[in-house]
Amino acid sequence: MELRQNYTLRGNTKPQSHIITVGGGKGGIGKSFISSSIAIFLANQGYRTVLVDLDLGCANLHTYLGLNKINKGISNFLNSNDTALDNYIIPTSFPQLGLITTNDPDNFDSSQINILQKSKLMSALFKLKADYIIFDLSAGTTETTLDFYLMGNSNILVTTPEPSSIENAYRFLKSSFYRKLKRIENQMGIKDTVAHLMSNKEALNIKSPYDLLKAIYMSDKEKGEQLMRNLSQFSPYFILNQTRSPRDISLGYSIKSVCHKYFGLKGEFLGHVDHDNAVWQSLRNRKHLLVEYPHSQLYAQLMNITRAITKKNEYLNKVA
Ligand SMILES: Nc1ncnc2c1ncn2[C@@H]1O[C@H](COP(=O)(O)OP(=O)(O)OP(=O)(O)O)[C@@H](O)[C@H]1O
Ligand SMILES: [Mg+2]
Repeated sequence: MELRQNYTLRGNTKPQSHIITVGGGKGGIGKSFISSSIAIFLANQGYRTVLVDLDLGCANLHTYLGLNKINKGISNFLNSNDTALDNYIIPTSFPQLGLITTNDPDNFDSSQINILQKSKLMSALFKLKADYIIFDLSAGTTETTLDFYLMGNSNILVTTPEPSSIENAYRFLKSSFYRKLKRIENQMGIKDTVAHLMSNKEALNIKSPYDLLKAIYMSDKEKGEQLMRNLSQFSPYFILNQTRSPRDISLGYSIKSVCHKYFGLKGEFLGHVDHDNAVWQSLRNRKHLLVEYPHSQLYAQLMNITRAITKKNEYLNKVA
């Protein structure tokens, strides 16, 4: 794939819209189902919404939205001289909802996307104007996935109650935390301090990312406070998908509490979504569950989750 221009994110790091990123580390846990559901609710509420499928090698959001052939997409964009993504938004059957996806998933993989392509895509995503933009991410913790995840104003982390999924969620959170820290470290000029503390972590009893933050604070109170302020903008929202019992639901609160203790991050548990075979049954009929089963329990659960996101966003806009 040829790139003709060098794109840079410098000076363009503030998004034009509220970006919600949906990640989770593990595959098949419901990231695409949840991102498409939130997008549909936001669009139904009258918000101009764009859903972006950033699972570049396995894009499938179009199926959730009942679309068949995709004629234009991210691969065309990356091969063009265009700097804006507006012409690559595909209309959907939901009036205020557009989709950006890759038209060429067989020849595309987010692990293969090069630095220039990534910069071009990120820059265009930041420039995109809508009320809400939702990124559906791929499984795994590659740098590209983490960078897309950290572009969000709201960072959603999906997990199921299965131990392997929870383990992956922590791994994803930890990788995002260190990726974010690395970026702030460079901006604040504390790279050497962090490297020094980490090379003495046993002696200093640094067992968690939060211990590291406390150690940075102890070595330089002013920088420590500034770092905590910067990191407090990263407050992951947890969604527990495919729950089957009240015991499963309580896991959401445990994850939030671990997030606080281990990472020093606030975190919020946004809610749970029950396991229901209707999800794949509706998908088989090429209809979204929200269209096929508007009276289901899942419809109400997903609506409450979306409301919680918009409420938090309105609150943050008020205090900003
Ligand atoms: N709450 C649910 N109840 C029952 N099935 C569900 C639920 N959520 C998702 N599924 C099913 O789980 C499967 C995976 O969902 P989805 O494609 O959203 O996962 P994903 O995390 O995006 O996967 P990938 O990492 O491969 O992109 C689908 O078959 C979907 O129908
Ligand atoms: Mg997916």
